[in-house]
Amino acid sequence: MKDSLSLGVNRQAALNHAAALVAHAWQDFDNPRESETEISDGLIAELRKPLPEQGSDVIESLDAAGDVLDASLAQSRPRYLAYIGSSGLEIGALADLLAHSYDINLALDARAATRLEAQAIGWLADFLGFPARLGSFTSGGTISNITALAAARERALPGTRTKGLSGTRPAIYCSAEAHYSITRAAELLGFGRDAVRDIPIDDQRRMQPAALRIAIEVDLAAGVTPVAVVATAGTTLTGSVDPIAALADICEEFGIWLHIDGAYGLPAASASKTAPLFAGLERADSVSVDAHKWMFVPKACSAVLVRDAQTLARTFAHDEAYIPHEDDELNAVDITLEYSRPLRAMKLWLALRVHGARAFRDAIAENCEQAQHLYRAAERHPEFEVLAAPPQLSIVPFRHVPPGCTDLDAHNLDLCSRMQQDGRVYISPATIDGQVWLRPCFTNFRTTMADVDITLEIAAELGNLDPHRDPSQRSSIK
Ligand SMILES: Cc1ncc(COP(=O)(O)O)c(C=O)c1O
Repeated sequence: MKDSLSLGVNRQAALNHAAALVAHAWQDFDNPRESETEISDGLIAELRKPLPEQGSDVIESLDAAGDVLDASLAQSRPRYLAYIGSSGLEIGALADLLAHSYDINLALDARAATRLEAQAIGWLADFLGFPARLGSFTSGGTISNITALAAARERALPGTRTKGLSGTRPAIYCSAEAHYSITRAAELLGFGRDAVRDIPIDDQRRMQPAALRIAIEVDLAAGVTPVAVVATAGTTLTGSVDPIAALADICEEFGIWLHIDGAYGLPAASASKTAPLFAGLERADSVSVDAHKWMFVPKACSAVLVRDAQTLARTFAHDEAYIPHEDDELNAVDITLEYSRPLRAMKLWLALRVHGARAFRDAIAENCEQAQHLYRAAERHPEFEVLAAPPQLSIVPFRHVPPGCTDLDAHNLDLCSRMQQDGRVYISPATIDGQVWLRPCFTNFRTTMADVDITLEIAAELGNLDPHRDPSQRSSIK
């Protein structure tokens, strides 16, 4: 053994110290911070140091790592409401430490770990209510979507993986507000981004089935091959869920693969209040879901699930001299894009084992309640505006519309960056129908109703400090 690469006698001390740092972080995440930690000059200097030739003390180095993390934007904090956050679930972090220590590779049969992955896929499918026959964990919704669409390509245009796409004219269909990973998939799979048909949305920002039907009919008449319809189950912009059952009817009629991009929203299919939004889910050919978003586990932990076990193998299986196949059994690498693949499943498996499915459903339902609460509070507030339709899931765009403000977009963009600098709540902006909105998203089990209330209070307080506004028009701040 190369002693210089082992922690040796410092092993237990290092483990204890790391455990203390983690315990401190978890405690810190229990409550919101009143401001973000500044990046000190000392830390900046530390992060400019050149490659060390000699090692340094492990305890000191762990502290340096802790300092970097403490001065970073952590999605685990209860008032991180930007983009689509996660929560760094404690048991998930422990699972990562354990799994990474064994450094199992799930490319080929890894014995018990391979069975654990299969069990976690089964549990996830049961949790969502999707009758998966097969699936695998991936590094994110982007890769899950590409994986599913690669399988759809092979079904719509058999032999493409051998002959390429030359002479074919494929198309995929998604709502105008689908995540851009769908466009990226079209680019990477050789369809080209022009093959993505952006189907118009209705007043609740969901794909319009009638418009989808027309687009498919026009394409078929022109000799184009529809490869897949992608229903978004929770759009990134506003959390809208496309009408899955109506889209499934159309897909069945025309024999088109139905993929559901549920990277963000699909876990809400498990909660009784939101489940009806996902009616028809069981009819999809494939679904993507990010456990590292609304199932709270640390990144990276996404999954792609399929109803027909053969579709992934037809797309990805290879017979290489250095990869043994025993008794025609599929290796994990036969159904995935990746070769070396860590045991991502362990964090979801341990999380479900320790907390049980009900705790997840309840936390998801609570995030949805928080979204409804914020929507109603902002709607009632004279200085805020909300979208006409209440949130379907847990994203609540709202904007500050104070009297005397002549440029609401500039004002709200400015307000957002002032909120980010202020540090009590972290929120991101979004452009909806050409207007700038603040767009909080609730996907953290640590967030409380008090955090929701204070978000609006902080927005009002900082919105009224806008130096560009006429001071005589500013309302008093409570
Ligand atoms: C609907 C949707 N699909 C796909 C993705 C991409 O997921 P990832 O960031 O895990 O690649 C996102 C990310 O926010 C998303 O919201």
